[in-house]
Amino acid sequence: MIISIIVAADLHNGIGLDNGLLWQIPADMLYFKTITSGHHVLMGKNTYLSIPDKYRPLSERTNIVISKDSSFENEGAKVFSTIEEGINFAKANEETELMIIGGGKIYEAAMHFVKRIYLTRVNHTFPLADTFFPFMEKHKWHLKTSRLQLKNESTNYDLMFEVWEK
Ligand SMILES: NC(=O)c1ccc[n+]([C@@H]2O[C@H](COP(=O)([O-])OP(=O)(O)OC[C@H]3O[C@@H](n4cnc5c(N)ncnc54)[C@H](OP(=O)(O)O)[C@@H]3O)[C@@H](O)[C@H]2O)c1
Repeated sequence: MIISIIVAADLHNGIGLDNGLLWQIPADMLYFKTITSGHHVLMGKNTYLSIPDKYRPLSERTNIVISKDSSFENEGAKVFSTIEEGINFAKANEETELMIIGGGKIYEAAMHFVKRIYLTRVNHTFPLADTFFPFMEKHKWHLKTSRLQLKNESTNYDLMFEVWEK
């Protein structure tokens, strides 16, 4: 099983504000759905709670939530107290590519397990961002593919869809 991250980040690696996203980007939502559908998705409790009720749990995906809070239970999501337990659950279910979908704390803690990163670079800086994607040590990663999508009504910004591999 390969472990991957999927993330959208601004030019300073900003990914969130007030437990929400910094932007509305329909083209990236669609990309996220396409890449993650059919897979196990692993996320921190904050990210899970940030998903609007009507989209939670994320459909067509097995939702894994990481939390040390033993009272946190949620129908539709498997809750584990460590990332390793979440990974083992996906492995035991014969997942081929586990998707780590955020947020900042989980990206940081899971980075060393990860072999692939689907990074949507949003060509803008949001000065108010309060959550960030960790610094990628560029010598450890190579860019497999990149695709530019210029600003239009479904992107709102110029976007670069990049896939990095270790
Ligand atoms: N742009 C993007 O692609 C993207 C993607 C996802 C999320 N986001 C944004 O990121 C922000 C949320 O990120 P965040 O850093 O605040 O929270 P998070 O990583 O989603 O969740 C943090 C919580 O998860 C649990 N947790 C995290 N690491 C753990 C570990 N190693 N072991 C056990 N439990 C762990 C803890 O829950 P307990 O306190 O219950 O133990 C912790 O408080 C939001 O603004 C969201 O919109 C952006």
